[in-house]
Amino acid sequence: MNIVCIGGGPSGLYFALLMKRQNPAHDITVVERNRPYDTFGWGVVFSDQTLGNLQAADPVSAAQILGAFNHWDDIEVNIRGAKVRSGGHGFCGIGRKRLLNILQRRCEEVGVKLVFEADVQNDDEYPHADLIIASDGLNSRIRTRHAATYQPDIDLRDCRFVWLGTNKLFEAFTFAFEETEWGWFQAHAYRFDDSTSTFIVEAPERVWRAAGLDTMEKEDAIAFCEKLFAKHLDGHALISNASHLRGSAQWIRFPRVVCKRWVHHNGRAPVVLMGDAAHTAHFSIGSGTKLALEDAIELARCIGQQPGDLQGALQHYEDVRSIEVLRIQNAARNSTEWFEHVDRYVNLPPEQFAYSLLTRSQRISHENLRVRDKAYVEGFEDWIAQRAGVQRGASQAAVPPMFTPFTVRSVTLKNRVIVSPMAQYSCTDGVPADYHLVHLGARAMGGAGLVVAEMTCTSADARITPGCPGLWNTAQRDGWKRIVDFVHANCDAKIAIQLGHAGAKGSTRVAWEGIDLPLERGNWPLISASPQQYLDGVSDWSHAMTRADMERVRDDFVQATRLAIEAGFDWLELHCAHGYLLSSFISPLTNLRSDDYGGSLANRLRYPLEVFNAVRAVWPQDLPISVRISANDWVEGGITPDDAIQIALAFKAAGADLIDCSSGQVSKQEQPVFGRMFQTPFADRVRNEAGIATIAVGAISEADHVNSIIASGRADLCAVARPHLANPAWTLMESAKIGYVDVSWPKQYRAAKQQLERNLERERAATAALAQASRAHLEEGV
Ligand SMILES: Cc1cc2nc3c(=O)[nH]c(=O)nc-3n(C[C@H](O)[C@H](O)[C@H](O)COP(=O)(O)OP(=O)(O)OC[C@H]3O[C@@H](n4cnc5c(N)ncnc54)[C@H](O)[C@@H]3O)c2cc1C
Ligand SMILES: Cc1cc2nc3c(=O)[nH]c(=O)nc-3n(C[C@H](O)[C@H](O)[C@H](O)COP(=O)(O)O)c2cc1C
Repeated sequence: MNIVCIGGGPSGLYFALLMKRQNPAHDITVVERNRPYDTFGWGVVFSDQTLGNLQAADPVSAAQILGAFNHWDDIEVNIRGAKVRSGGHGFCGIGRKRLLNILQRRCEEVGVKLVFEADVQNDDEYPHADLIIASDGLNSRIRTRHAATYQPDIDLRDCRFVWLGTNKLFEAFTFAFEETEWGWFQAHAYRFDDSTSTFIVEAPERVWRAAGLDTMEKEDAIAFCEKLFAKHLDGHALISNASHLRGSAQWIRFPRVVCKRWVHHNGRAPVVLMGDAAHTAHFSIGSGTKLALEDAIELARCIGQQPGDLQGALQHYEDVRSIEVLRIQNAARNSTEWFEHVDRYVNLPPEQFAYSLLTRSQRISHENLRVRDKAYVEGFEDWIAQRAGVQRGASQAAVPPMFTPFTVRSVTLKNRVIVSPMAQYSCTDGVPADYHLVHLGARAMGGAGLVVAEMTCTSADARITPGCPGLWNTAQRDGWKRIVDFVHANCDAKIAIQLGHAGAKGSTRVAWEGIDLPLERGNWPLISASPQQYLDGVSDWSHAMTRADMERVRDDFVQATRLAIEAGFDWLELHCAHGYLLSSFISPLTNLRSDDYGGSLANRLRYPLEVFNAVRAVWPQDLPISVRISANDWVEGGITPDDAIQIALAFKAAGADLIDCSSGQVSKQEQPVFGRMFQTPFADRVRNEAGIATIAVGAISEADHVNSIIASGRADLCAVARPHLANPAWTLMESAKIGYVDVSWPKQYRAAKQQLERNLERERAATAALAQASRAHLEEGV
């Protein structure tokens, strides 16, 4: 095969090398516009895992790369004079020049032709090629040329950064944060050879401009950075290198590149994107070179495995690699956003700030960190526990963040887990009876700190379905009191009521007879902020609330609150989410009013706040109220996470104690992006920008998730819904799974505790032994 790689960066060179090794008969040329052995850049980092892949692909270059690597394990976070260090992160740094030189030499050794100082204009220049690789980097000319096929999507991120070097040798991968009168700057620094470290300086665009860096001469900008980070540089200078764009002292915004297609046919040969030409992942997760090399490995593998079927091999390459790239880009997006919003986190204590940084991508969890550095995690757990006023328990194990108590007003929850409210559609006339006693009772016995009963409606016409519970009469109050009394008598969980009004989503069937579909008979009139039909052409129409309706509904909420007090609930949640009545006022998608209750967000919040204030006035001062909101409508023109901050601030000012950050279900046009802990970023923003405690909810399904969220200060509590349907004792089971035994079980169930813990301990030991054996096997093989 005749193969031409346009661009001699890591991806082009490595692919050429692997293909030539695979079949020496291939005629392979790498065309590079720079001079031989000339390149830009400081050091690049890999994880230990990437090295394993290189070892398998070409042991000769892997050995040379390994020999040139500076390996380090620690990450150090410097902020406000504090240094927080953790280990076990397993990174390697190598000079980009050094890496390319190794690959260039190795290519020459195996017979790849290297053509330098040739600036390729067009893939048509290679009419005899059977395969053309567009490995021409971030600003790929070939990608631009065939943009109609590749469909690149380029997102210029907010921060400005400059890639500098220094002779200060950093012992750890170092992050340094410095405050200026214009805002926060950060540096990412790592050593990559015996005399040099990479030193990237970064700041949000507005901070960078305010500091005058947009108009500063290169030398002045470097002097500015040297002064700002002087205490981290120990007198060493910052150096800018050659005149190439990325190596120069130019401040650029990181372009996130993703392409819909990776293969173009130019009429004679396929032209295939590889490396930065196909995708980028923010440098803060250090994956650009890794992805470039792994692209090369995968394409060479696909071609090797499908001889005679180049088309199929290319398709397979595109399928496999685009999934992997998406995975890394997801993590990179979280990481990029973290660095774009450092000012959100700088007021966390340095210990928690550092933990938040380490777990910023949501890819490294609490347990991953424990594997990396047990002592660091245990020390941090002790720090969190001490702040929550608890000491190590009888087993002397550190208390995981999930099991630290949380106090709000006079209520102390024993841990950070909430059974999230879940409609059960199992009441008659709104009266909770035996079903709810068993359902909620079992979950209260299951270890969670707080059980929130499902949306409970303030009048018969406020219900979602005829099966929904209510709180407008004494029979309902007595039904609830029986459940609350059971919980208080039999366990140490607290119990909350969630009060709501279904609005335009009312008068529908129970879930298993067609969720959201209107009743076939016995429908009641619907009200909401404005006339609407939740399901276009299907739902009953609601009509806009009049002032009289507003007063009646507000008084119904107050009456329900009074009955909730009589029933003995510990906590009240006001349901302002999911498109129900109060939510319909907040979202611009459902509130089209032209009076004082429509228009601006402040106006749209007016009625929900009126209800909140009326409820707060009668609900005991020593008991908490949380407010559930949809922090994102997931629809263009709907509520955004920015709006959620304003909504939270308004409820905070009115006396809310926590914001329960859910999202969506306001409009059927929504396009949510699901994933584990997918709504936690909303809780994070509200907590750290609006300064109010939050509840995270949505796809939180393991103790590890809860620990990571609480420890990093992304939320104060975690609500877990569906996993509690599958297992009422979810919290007890999760504590046993992570080997934390200082958890109290209901006395009637204690016989099961030790047996479960023993069995799980055996499982953990067996898994660890298996992992150890397979590691030993691999090492022998190498
Ligand atoms: C600040 C910063 C820090 C980074 N840190 C890391 C890190 O720590 N770890 C990591 O893994 N990655 C890091 N990267 C990313 C890394 O540099 C790239 O992801 C990686 O080099 C991609 O390899 P590539 O072969 O696809 O492209 P490149 O390395 O960009 O190579 C493309 C080559 O094509 C040549 N070329 C372009 N156009 C033409 C043309 N028309 N004709 C001929 N030749 C052409 C260029 O001269 C270049 O040599 C970082 C990037 C930046 C900006
Ligand atoms: C069966 C069911 C009923 C629900 N009912 C309610 C409800 O009454 N009130 C509410 O605010 N959220 C309700 N939700 C949403 C959950 O409280 C939770 O926000 C959502 O399921 C995401 O959490 P999870 O991923 O842990 O399931 C319900 C969810 C389910 C699965």
